[in-house]
Amino acid sequence: MKKLLLIAIATLTVAGCAQQYKPTLEEKVEATLSQLTLEEKVALTHAQSKFSSAGVPRLGIPELWHTDGPHGIRPEVLWDDWDQAGWTNDSCTAFPALINLAATWNRDMSALYGDCIGAEARYRKKDILLGPGVNICRTPLGGRTFEYMGEDPYLASALVVPYVKGVQQNGVAACVKHFAANNQEMRRTATNSIVDDRTMYEIYLPAFEAAVKEGGAWAIMGSYNLYNGQFNCHNYRLLQEILKGEWGFDGVVISDWGGCRNDDEPITNGLDIEMGTWTNGLRGAASNGYDEYHLANPYLQRLRDGRATQEDLDDKARRILRTIYRTSMSEEPHYGSFTSPEHFKAARDIAADGIVLLKNDGALPLAPANGSKVLLVGENAYKMMVVGGGSSNLKTKYEVIPLDALREAFDGKAEVLWARGYVGDTTTVYNKVVTGQDLKDSRSPEKLRQDAVEAAREADYVIYIGGLNKSSYQDNESTDRVDIALPYYQDELIEALAEVTPGLIVVNISGSPVAMPWASKVNAIVQAWYGGSESGHALADVLTGKVNPSGKLPFTMPIRVADGPLQSERQYPGIKEEGKEWWQEYYSEGVFVGYRWFDTKGIAVQYPFGHGLSYTSFEIADASVKRSGKGFKATCTVKNTGAVAGAEVVQLYIHDSEASVERPSKELKGFEKVYLEPGESRRIEFPINSRALSFFDAASHSWIAEPGEFHALIGTSSADIRADIPFEL
Ligand code: GLC
Repeated sequence: MKKLLLIAIATLTVAGCAQQYKPTLEEKVEATLSQLTLEEKVALTHAQSKFSSAGVPRLGIPELWHTDGPHGIRPEVLWDDWDQAGWTNDSCTAFPALINLAATWNRDMSALYGDCIGAEARYRKKDILLGPGVNICRTPLGGRTFEYMGEDPYLASALVVPYVKGVQQNGVAACVKHFAANNQEMRRTATNSIVDDRTMYEIYLPAFEAAVKEGGAWAIMGSYNLYNGQFNCHNYRLLQEILKGEWGFDGVVISDWGGCRNDDEPITNGLDIEMGTWTNGLRGAASNGYDEYHLANPYLQRLRDGRATQEDLDDKARRILRTIYRTSMSEEPHYGSFTSPEHFKAARDIAADGIVLLKNDGALPLAPANGSKVLLVGENAYKMMVVGGGSSNLKTKYEVIPLDALREAFDGKAEVLWARGYVGDTTTVYNKVVTGQDLKDSRSPEKLRQDAVEAAREADYVIYIGGLNKSSYQDNESTDRVDIALPYYQDELIEALAEVTPGLIVVNISGSPVAMPWASKVNAIVQAWYGGSESGHALADVLTGKVNPSGKLPFTMPIRVADGPLQSERQYPGIKEEGKEWWQEYYSEGVFVGYRWFDTKGIAVQYPFGHGLSYTSFEIADASVKRSGKGFKATCTVKNTGAVAGAEVVQLYIHDSEASVERPSKELKGFEKVYLEPGESRRIEFPINSRALSFFDAASHSWIAEPGEFHALIGTSSADIRADIPFEL
């Protein structure tokens, strides 16, 4: 009996230990790596289809499924095709464009966004989400500004972190893109960004650095362009020295589709998975050329004849296996969810939270009298905008347009009519995803304008809803805009409407800045964005006051492009130089991008970075700066002094009064969004650490905070500073 008891105890102990002992991630990676053949390791490093890369079938290691995009889960495509495959179970929740998220200045909304889109990716059995994009808006003409997070590195850094964490808590890798200094669409695969170190470290790297070091991003996408002479999908400085060296990135570097450009550099310069080669027009190829990819047979050949090292290959394989163990083979099972009511509500709340009230002389919020007539004018009151724009194109379960949402909101109170006003982009299909709308209209611009003005004369309220769309040379991947003026004769139309409508409300729906020469002639201006499935509801929520607007501009609205920092072709879109194969683009404006340029040079703008009004009012008081630990702490009190609840984004900018280098007049180094009831106050604290006071010194390759006087500027926009507190470092 005693012996039996001893055996039982021993067994339980071992079992108990065995149960408790779980191999670490690294131990699983090493154990698997040690079993792989050369061919199996190489197979991991490149695509096997348009959006998948191999696993290890022999060992039951699943393949990696990649999916666009930053705003929602792209519809399933065929094995080797861009067009959708026509599945009937892949209509997703279309979340707002990332510029809309940026305009919320709301870290909680970013976390919500990441969690929802991550759950949708997981449910669709995707392991790598090809987003978010965090390239800085260097030129207002950038074709993909709508997919990114604005002109300021601090804002983009603050919002990319919660998004990445939200995605990854679903067992899906966020693949932060496009790394780096990829700030235009024109000639994006043939332009060399020439950027000095200080500008890179202060402006173009921080959002990626935050995503990796604070967000723990599991994947990074190399960009199409070159940086200081080398293609970014295999740029040694960017990938090996900075990303994997300085930042200690332990995830995978994935090429943009077609961004891998040769056989040798990808092996040694830090590319881990080659995707999409031959699909961006660089090299036409019969389908299924995957065995001929740079990191496929050519790589295998180099390994076999000793021209490539096992060490480089094992580093790639480790990172890929680590990604698989973090996602599809995660110990904690994830199942995700798809097109849930919660996701659509999140889309609506995020979209509304980012809508920016630029001007309001009293026409908003709109509460139409019983039996009145509300006229909407403009194509964007009707046109569905989720379809199109490039790789962020989505097939969504539904999209609420402003016209329907406002009819719903005013149902039983006011009649809501619509006048086209202008004909813009009548396409309704992209990659075989269709909206089902018919936008054809044969009237001339003059007739369209006349009809709209006539209708406006008969209406009690007029809301203009226009702006841009996702067609070429507007908010669209692979093309930049040619100007920031509104297309389709909209300026003339708005002016004509303003003449007959004293209380004209203008809603500009766009993903990037537009010129507003008519701003002084209209009563109210709202900057709305591509808000996704619930965009119409979100806009109606704000226009009716159901949601008090609290968005802030994530970029400057300049009066004209020429006022901006890019004053020469050398700076944008780049020039050809003798003996150089690629276009050369000099970022000679340095750190003076966006408000850093306009504010420092004292150039007037239409609406400044960080600007956004509310239906209530706020007061900032009792601002101070005190020492705190090794740094400082700025504090202030914000109070809702109006009659309705609302949110204010209190912003902290730092000014360095005396620096050995030229510094911008102010730089965003903190913000808090606070929701307050009427009369409610809240104390806000902003930590000011050394990095917040520093500039990057290329010579010493370090951040330097020079002793001397600084100012903490606390305000509700970059141009509306309510407190200026000097302090001494
Ligand atoms: C595109 C885009 C990238 C996208 C990829 C896959 O060219 O640059 O953002 O994720 O290809 O569609």
